[in-house]
Amino acid sequence: MTDRFPISGLRSVELEVPDLDQAIAFYTGIWGLTEAAHAHGHVYLRCEGDDPYTVRLSKGNAPAMLSYTLRAADGTDLTALLARAEAAGGKAEGAIAPLSDFGGGNGFSMFDTVGRRLRIVQGDDRVAADFTELSRPDRLSHININTTDLERDIAFYVDGLGFTVSDRSKIMGFVRTNSDHHTIVLATAPVETLNHIAFNHRNWEDVMKASGRMVDEHHPMGWGPGRHGPGDNVFAYFVDPFGIVVEHTAEMLQIDETYRVGGPADWTWPPGRIDHWGIAPPKTETCKAAQLAIPFK
Ligand SMILES: [Fe+2]
Repeated sequence: MTDRFPISGLRSVELEVPDLDQAIAFYTGIWGLTEAAHAHGHVYLRCEGDDPYTVRLSKGNAPAMLSYTLRAADGTDLTALLARAEAAGGKAEGAIAPLSDFGGGNGFSMFDTVGRRLRIVQGDDRVAADFTELSRPDRLSHININTTDLERDIAFYVDGLGFTVSDRSKIMGFVRTNSDHHTIVLATAPVETLNHIAFNHRNWEDVMKASGRMVDEHHPMGWGPGRHGPGDNVFAYFVDPFGIVVEHTAEMLQIDETYRVGGPADWTWPPGRIDHWGIAPPKTETCKAAQLAIPFK
């Protein structure tokens, strides 16, 4: 079923942070990633699954999202995919070529219709999964991107990259490229920034344990715990030491082409509710502000 998608999933994010040592300490010591490599001037961190890395850190003056990297399915014709993405308003940054990142693979870098950089990689290394009992994420789940034009950005993913719309709410679009209900979320906002990066766990109790590890280290929860409407995933949001919003999540709804695509009327909540459980305190002001603040560079 998933083979019809030219993109098989979200492989990694590439971030710039002002203090690499602090970032490594946070993301390995508390968040639950492990160091995969120091190479090419970057630090590569991995989850417990088979991706060679899921977070690349580079030093910069201010926190920023340099790119996110989607993995093309093995059978995807990259030349055709690039042409399709350009026809949908994307702009290539260089030619199709081997990526210089740890994990290798062949691919290309491009800008979407407003200049956010994304990369496509195909045939990158897969590493042996390393599952532990330490409540570490196994892969990236999704990224949420703020947009001033929801229709424009949904069209780019659907027409340019072959995604399918799973659900629409009043202000958000959820698009998928495998059986996960969403891999990219587009959220209407006054800015074209990163909203958050979500890390997947194998079960919801690991989300709680990983969240407890954050609270132990004096990183309060920004929103959660709860269970989302669209996607039905369990969530806990935090703000990292640089102001980047990161989410521990699990149990994303698995769907196929028989899923009935929902609209705003399907996702209205009773007064006082914004998730299925209704136990989480309101989102913190710090989290709300951080969800708008991180630029794509
Ligand atoms: Fe999320």
